Amino acid sequence: MEQKYIRFDTLNSTYVLRVNEVGHLENLYYGPLLASEENLTQLFHKRDNMLGTSTGYDASVFDNAYSLDARFFEVGTAGKGDYRKPSIIFLSDNGYSQDYKFVSFNTRKVSEVTAEGFPLPHDASKYYEIEMYCAISNSTIYLDYLIFKESDVILRRVRFSGIGRLEKISSFNLDIVNNNYEVFATYGTWGNEAHPFTHKLMPGVFELQTNAGPSSNRHNPFFLVKEQDATLNSGIVYGFNLIYSGPFSATIERTFDNRLRIQHGINDDLFAKTLQEGESFVTPWGVLTTSTKGENGVSQNFHHFIQNHLVRSPFAKSARPILLNNWEGTYFDFNAKKLKYLIDDASQLGIELFVLDDGWFINRDDDRGGLSNYEVNKKKLPGGLKEIANYANKKGMKFGLWFEPEMISKDSKLYEEHPEYAVMIPDVSPSPGRNQYSLDLSNKDVQKYIIDNVSAVLESANIEYVKWDYNRNLSDFYPSSRVFESFFYDYTKGLYAILEVLMNKYPTILWEGCASGGNRFDLGILSYFDQIWVSDTSDAYERIRMHRTLAKAYPLSVMSGHVSAIPNHQLLRNIPLQTRFNNAFMSGGFGYELDLAKLTPLNKKFISEGNNIAKLFSEFVINGNYYEFKTNSQKEKYSYGVISEDKKHALVLVSNGSGSILPETLTLPALPLLEEAFYEVTTMEQITDIGSFGSLLKRVLPKFIKYDGPIINYLRKRKSTEELINIKVQENYVASGKLLRSGKLSLYPEWTGTGVGPTTRSGIDFNSVLYFISIKDK
Ligand code: GLA
Repeated sequence: MEQKYIRFDTLNSTYVLRVNEVGHLENLYYGPLLASEENLTQLFHKRDNMLGTSTGYDASVFDNAYSLDARFFEVGTAGKGDYRKPSIIFLSDNGYSQDYKFVSFNTRKVSEVTAEGFPLPHDASKYYEIEMYCAISNSTIYLDYLIFKESDVILRRVRFSGIGRLEKISSFNLDIVNNNYEVFATYGTWGNEAHPFTHKLMPGVFELQTNAGPSSNRHNPFFLVKEQDATLNSGIVYGFNLIYSGPFSATIERTFDNRLRIQHGINDDLFAKTLQEGESFVTPWGVLTTSTKGENGVSQNFHHFIQNHLVRSPFAKSARPILLNNWEGTYFDFNAKKLKYLIDDASQLGIELFVLDDGWFINRDDDRGGLSNYEVNKKKLPGGLKEIANYANKKGMKFGLWFEPEMISKDSKLYEEHPEYAVMIPDVSPSPGRNQYSLDLSNKDVQKYIIDNVSAVLESANIEYVKWDYNRNLSDFYPSSRVFESFFYDYTKGLYAILEVLMNKYPTILWEGCASGGNRFDLGILSYFDQIWVSDTSDAYERIRMHRTLAKAYPLSVMSGHVSAIPNHQLLRNIPLQTRFNNAFMSGGFGYELDLAKLTPLNKKFISEGNNIAKLFSEFVINGNYYEFKTNSQKEKYSYGVISEDKKHALVLVSNGSGSILPETLTLPALPLLEEAFYEVTTMEQITDIGSFGSLLKRVLPKFIKYDGPIINYLRKRKSTEELINIKVQENYVASGKLLRSGKLSLYPEWTGTGVGPTTRSGIDFNSVLYFISIKDK
C-alpha cells in the first residue's frame, strides 16, 4: 500500500496521521500548528523495535523489523505484537486478535454527521471519516473527526460493526512521546468535589475511572497532560474530556521506552456489547485540545468550544437572572405564605427568579418518599404551583422549579403499578441511595413516563427555569430488558433521549443540572442543561477551589454559585457576606440560597447594591476570557478572573485562605492587559462587621458599652465598622498596562492586628476582594 499522510489543522494545532506501507494508521503528531509546507515524513517515528522478546508483525509482508509495539497508532489492538493497552477489545470467532487496515479517508459534509443518540456539538468546521477493516475479526470501524477550528478542539469517536462481543472501545487513542509530562486531574466526593491533583507519570498505567452510574463526583472526566515545567501561561499542555455522562475510563500508559498511550471512553469494566449481523456500536465523542500557552491556553480552548459549540444558544452566552432558591432557607418546611414572604423580600432586593426546591409534592416532607409522582401538596400550596408562579410574576420575577425525574420512591403509585420500572433485581433487597431508587432509563416506556410527567408539571404553571436533580448512584444493575452488559451505556443514552425531547419541547426554559451537586458535571449534561449546581457545599471558600479547578475545563458561565447563610450549613464556617457575594457572583448561575427574612438591614442594603453591580457585570463574567492568576503571596491565596477580548476590562478575584499574622507586601497578580494603556483599578467599598472584632472592641469602647451587648448588636445590624468610625476603605489605583502586566502593583496591606484605617483591608480568614479594572479614558 502507498504511504499516505492525513493532516487536520485547527487555528493553533496540527494532528497528523500516516497510513503506512501495510495500511496501519499511525499517529504521527499532535501538538502546536506546523508549517503548512511541513515535510510530514519528518514526523515518522523511525525506530522499529525488534528487541529480544518483541513480536514482529508479519515476516512475509515487507519488513522483518516491523513491530507494532514500537509504533504510534490511532487505534490500539491486541494479538499482533502491540502489548500496550488496546483501545478496542473485540471477541470474534477468531478470538481477541485484531488488525485494522486503512480502507478510505473521506472528507464529509458537517451536516452529514449523525448524532447516534448522543449529544452532538454544533457548527463544526470540518468532518472527516476514516474507514478501517480488520480481516481477522471481520469487523469495520469508522473513525469520525469533528474539527472546531477556532476553539482548537478536535472531537473523535468510533463507529464499530462486526459479529461478536465488544468488550472495550475507547473514543480515542493517542500515542505520543513522553516529554516529562504529568497529569492534572480531579478527585472528590459528595460536597467535596473538584480537588485538583497533579501526578507524575510513572511507568505503568494511570487510570481515572468511575462506575457509579453518573460521570460522578469521584473524578471529573476531564484531565490535562502537561509538561512538567508548563505554567499557567506557558508550555505545552494537552486537555482531554468526554461528551458523556456515564461511567468512563481514562488511562495514560507510560511504556518502558517512555512513550504515552492516552485513551478515554466509556468504562470497559461492567461493559460488553454483543453484536449480531448488521448491528453497530457508537462511542461518545472524545474531546482533544492542546495549547502552547499553558493551562490557561487549554482552559480557554475548552471554554470557547463549550460556549460556541456545546451549550444551547442563547443561554451559552447570556446573563442569567439572579435567583433565590429556597432550599437552604427552608428545606422541606415551607408553605405558600412563607414562599410569598420570600418572594416579596427577593423582589425588593433586585432578585429576578424565584426557585422552589424540593418538597412541593405529596409525600415529600423529608427525603424518604414521594419521588416519581409530582402531584402538588395542596396542604402546603393550596393554590398549586400556579399561585406561587403567578405571585412571583406579579412581583416582576420569574418562577423556577426543582425536579428529580430519574428517581422513584418505593411508596409511590408508580412503584405499585410498575415495579419493573425501578432498577432492582427481582427477589433481592435493593440497595437504597438517599432512601430512593433509580428508574430504568434504558426502558422506552420509562422514558415516555418521565417526558409526560415533567411536561405535565411544566405546563401547569409559568415555569421558566428547571433544576433537574439526580441524587443517587446506580446499584442493582438490572434493567427489565435484561440487557445487562451495556446497562450504563443504555441508561445514559436513555437520559439523552429524554432530554432531547424536553429541550426541543421547552427551548426557552433555563435548565440547571444538579446531581447532589457535582455528581454529574460533564459535557454530556452541558449539551442540554445550561448550567450545573457545582456542589451541595455552598461555603464560599470551598467553592473557590471547586470553581477554579473546574474552570480548567469548563467556563464560569456553566457553574452555579449561591450566597448562603452563615454559619454555613455544611461546614459551620463564617464567611463575610461581601466575600460570599464576590465568590458566588464570579459564576454564571449567580444567586442566593438563604432565608432573606433573617438578613439584617445592613445585609439587605449590601445585597441590593450588590445585585445592581451583578446586573452590570454578569454578562462579562459569562463572556470574558478566563484566566487563573498567580499571586505573590506566601499565604494560601488564589486568584482568577476574566479579561475582555479587547483587553480593556478585567474582573479579578483574589481569595484568601486561612489568614496569618504575617504582614506581606501584596501585589495585584500579573494581568495580560494592553501595554500602552492606563487602567483604573477599583473595588467595592469594604464592609466589615463590627461583631467580627469580638472582645477586641473593649479596647476602643467606653466601659458602659459591652462589646457583645445590645447596643453593639443593634449597631452591627445597621452599620458596618467603616461607617461607624467614618472611614471609607475602597481600593483605587491608576496603573499603566505595563505595570499591571508586571504584577508589581502594590496593594493596601491586610489587617494584621495593627488597627483599622482607610488603607487597611480586612484580611480575615477566607475573605476575598474583587477588583474591577477598566481602561482609563485619555
Ligand atoms: C440535592 C441538591 C440540593 C437540593 C436537595 C433537595 O441534595 O443538590 O441542592 O435540591 O437535593 O432534596
